Amino acid sequence: MIKYLLAGMIATACLNGSEEEWGKWKARALLHQHEAQGWCTKEKAEKMMELIYEVQPEICVEIGVFGGASIYPTAKALQYQDKGVVYAIDPWTKEDCQEGYDPQDPNYIWWSSLDLEKIYKGFLFLLKKHRLEPFCHPMKMTSEEALQHFADESIDILHIDGNHTADVALSDAYMWLPKVKKGGYIWFDDANWPTTAKAGAYLREHCTLNPSRSFFSEGVECLLFEKP
Ligand SMILES: C[S@@+](CC[C@H](N)C(=O)[O-])C[C@H]1O[C@@H](n2cnc3c(N)ncnc32)[C@H](O)[C@@H]1O
Repeated sequence: MIKYLLAGMIATACLNGSEEEWGKWKARALLHQHEAQGWCTKEKAEKMMELIYEVQPEICVEIGVFGGASIYPTAKALQYQDKGVVYAIDPWTKEDCQEGYDPQDPNYIWWSSLDLEKIYKGFLFLLKKHRLEPFCHPMKMTSEEALQHFADESIDILHIDGNHTADVALSDAYMWLPKVKKGGYIWFDDANWPTTAKAGAYLREHCTLNPSRSFFSEGVECLLFEKP
């Protein structure tokens, strides 16, 4: 009896130890997240890291990387578990960012003003600086071009955050859902934008919304779906 009690106590101590270590790792990653350009809030970064910690994925994919604000916490969580890869898909070109927008649209004008090659180089530097290269593979191409590189039902966690115009957002949801494993996860960012509504509706119809992990923060709704 005492033997079992002791074994239980040791197991709990180990678990608490690793929880503490993980908490410190996460806090350090969140502290450095500002080095990556983009829009990922701390809340989102933490939720993405927590999901990785629980799921222990082999293959993650992010569509729409920009300066790496959401890839950085993802890759840091993979680095902690010392396994798995996140594929960082983004063409980093003006033309792809402008696609679907009217030239008078403020989004078109804003994307036209950026030096995306510089942002891409900054992202590569970030990966190198934080030794994240083994855990993050950049794919400088559109989501449509990247699709052929993934087998059906191969992705554990997919993050859709690319071009937000109605047609591209919907085709990202439609094209990529078959690539996610049954039981896999899909983060869907900016779900409260009118232009992403059709893509959101498609995911609601074909997946199960996880309400406890979905959230609204700093004006942005981010939904988590599970593929049945
Ligand atoms: C909203 S930003 C991504 C934000 C980033 N995930 C973050 O958290 O900061 C959208 C990105 O989608 C990329 N993009 C535009 N068209 C794309 C396409 N067809 N496929 C993949 N990415 C695309 C843009 O280059 C841009 O970097």
